[in-house]
Amino acid sequence: MSEIKLLSDSLINKIAAGEVLERPASAVKELVENSIDAGAKKIDIFIGNGGKSNITVLDDGRGIKKDELEKAVLRHTTSKLNSSNLNCIKTMGFRGEALSSIASVSDFSISSNQKNNSEGYEIKIVSGKVKHVKPINQKKGTCVKVRNLFFSTPARLKFLKSENYESILIKRLIQNFAIIHFDKEFNLYLNNKITIKTSLSKDREVKNRFFNRVNQILGTDFVENSIDLEAHSEFISLSGLLGYPTFNYSNSNNQFVFVNGRVINDKTLNTIFRVAYKDVMFHDRFPQLILNIKCPHDWVDVNVHPMKNEVRFSDFNLLKSFIIKTFRDSFEKIGYENNKLKSSTPLVEENNVNCFQEKIKLKETNYSNYEINNNYDSLQESNKPEQFYPLGHAKSQFHANYIISETEEGIIIVDQHAAHERIVYESLKKDYYENKIKTQLLLIPIILNLDNLVIKDYEKKLENLGKFGLKIDVFGSNSVIVREIPALVSDCNVKNLVDAVINDMANENSLNYLETEVNKICSTIACHGSIRSGRKLEVEEMNDLLRKMENTKNSGQCNHGRPTFIKLNIVEIEKLFGRK
Ligand SMILES: Nc1ncnc2c1ncn2[C@@H]1O[C@H](COP(=O)(O)OP(=O)(O)OP(=O)(O)O)[C@@H](O)[C@H]1O
Ligand SMILES: [Mg+2]
Repeated sequence: MSEIKLLSDSLINKIAAGEVLERPASAVKELVENSIDAGAKKIDIFIGNGGKSNITVLDDGRGIKKDELEKAVLRHTTSKLNSSNLNCIKTMGFRGEALSSIASVSDFSISSNQKNNSEGYEIKIVSGKVKHVKPINQKKGTCVKVRNLFFSTPARLKFLKSENYESILIKRLIQNFAIIHFDKEFNLYLNNKITIKTSLSKDREVKNRFFNRVNQILGTDFVENSIDLEAHSEFISLSGLLGYPTFNYSNSNNQFVFVNGRVINDKTLNTIFRVAYKDVMFHDRFPQLILNIKCPHDWVDVNVHPMKNEVRFSDFNLLKSFIIKTFRDSFEKIGYENNKLKSSTPLVEENNVNCFQEKIKLKETNYSNYEINNNYDSLQESNKPEQFYPLGHAKSQFHANYIISETEEGIIIVDQHAAHERIVYESLKKDYYENKIKTQLLLIPIILNLDNLVIKDYEKKLENLGKFGLKIDVFGSNSVIVREIPALVSDCNVKNLVDAVINDMANENSLNYLETEVNKICSTIACHGSIRSGRKLEVEEMNDLLRKMENTKNSGQCNHGRPTFIKLNIVEIEKLFGRK
C-alpha cells in the first residue's frame, strides 16, 4: 500500500459526483432545482441521447453575476445556506456541490445574465478545468449545457441503460416538477422533439390551476378518477388527488409525492399508502395519487442523502396516522362511486374467489339498518311518488351475475357477487366494532374434525371468533363444534366458512395487529356469505341490493379493489349507435 495522501480536488469532485449523480436524470434534477431556486417562471429542458450526449436547461430566473460564475462551479459554494438555516432549509439546493460534480464528469458550460438585456457571460469547463469566461449573447436567466456526461467515469457510463429508458426517467422527473410547480412553465424536448409542453392557466383558483396542470401532464383520466384531497392539522397539510381504489395499477409509477415542493421518492411513504388502501384494494395493486405534504421546514430533515430525494420527519408516526386517516376519510366520502370506467381501463386481474353460498336472502323486511339516504334530490313531482335513486331501478339480470339498472343518465351494470360482498363486509365490520354482531343459533350444531395440533394452537383464538359471531368450541381432542354463526350470512356453507376462517388464522403472522385480523376474517365471512354469481335474483332483490349499495361506504369496489358496477352513459350509448 502506498503513502497516505490528500486527494486532488478533481478526484474529490469525481467521488462527490458518484454520490450526487446516479444517471442523467439526476443531473437534470439538480439543474431544474437550481432554476426553481433562482425564481424562474419558464424552464426549457433539451435532452439528447437520453441525456448521455446533451442536457441543456434554460431558465428565465435571476441569473448569476459574471464574477460569481467561477465560484458557482467550485465545490461547497452556495448562495443558499448559512450557519443559521441548516435546520430550516427552504430552497431545493443547499449542499453547494451539484454544479461542481456535474462539471467534473462532463464538458460543461453556463451562460447567464442578471439584467434585462442580452449581455451575458459564459463559463466553459473542459475535463474539470475552466477553459474561459467570456461575454456572450444571453438574455436574462441562465443556460447550463452538459455534454458527454460521465465521459471521464466509464464505469458509471457502462451502468446506464438504453437511451429510451434514461429518457423515460427524465420525462417522469419533469412530469413531477411540472405537477408540483404548476405556476411555472416547463417544456421538455427529447432529441429536439417536444415531449412535455405546458402552458400557464390564468384561473384565479389555485386548485383549478393545479387540476389544469394535471390534465396537461397526465391526461383527464387521472383527475376524473381521483378524489380531491385536502386536509390540515396543526403541523401538516395534505393536498392533491387520491385515485379511486378501482383505478389501480401493477406498479407505483402513477404516484407523485412531494414534501414542501420537493420531489420525493421515499419507500416508507409508499408503505403508508399501502396500509391506507389495504381495505379497499388488492394487496399487489397500486393506486394512482398525487400527494403534496406541507409541514414546517424545521420539521423535516432534507439532508439525508446527497441526491436529496429522501427526507426524515421529526414525528413520522404523527404524519403516518394523519395520512392514513385522511385517505380513509376520503374513501368514505366517495360512498358508492367508483372509477369512470372506460373499456381500456386496467383492472385487477380476475381473482378466483371461492364462494359456496347457495341461497341467501337479500330482501330484508326491516330496513332499519340501511336507512335510505335522503340527501339525493328527490323527483319532487307529486304525480311521481318514486324516490330518486342514484343507482337507478333494476331491469333484469344476465349471465346470472350481472344486474342491469336504468338510471337517469343511462344504465349501470352491477356485479352482484362483488357488490354484495362489500355490503356484507362493511356491515360485519361495523357490527364488530360496535359489538353488535347478531348471531344465529344453529338448530343442529355442526361438528368439524380438525388436526389436534391446530386445535391446541387455536383454542384461545377460537374464543375470539365469538366477537365475529362465530361461536366455536373445542369438542373432544380433534374436533370443534360450531354453535352460532353471524346472522348476516345465515344460509352459508358453515363447514367451508369455518375452514376458511381457521385457515386465515393459521396464515396470519401479525395476529396482534387487530385491524388486519378483523378485516381478514370479516372479508372471508363476507366472501362466503355473499350471493354468488350464478344465483338468479328477483327484480325486488336486485333493487334491494342497489339500495344497500347506495348506503354502504366503499361500495363502488369489492374487497379486492375491483369495481362493483360500471356506468354507461346514454350519450355514449347513442354514440355507439351513430345517433350522435
Ligand atoms: N440556474 C441558476 N440560476 C441562478 N443561479 C444559479 C443557477 N444554478 C446555480 N446557481 C448558483 O450557483 C450556486 C451553486 O449551484 P449548485 O447547484 O452547485 O449548489 P446549490 O444549488 O447551492 O446546492 P446543491 O448542491 O444542493 O444543489 C447556487 O447556490 C446558485 O447561487
Ligand atoms: Mg443546486
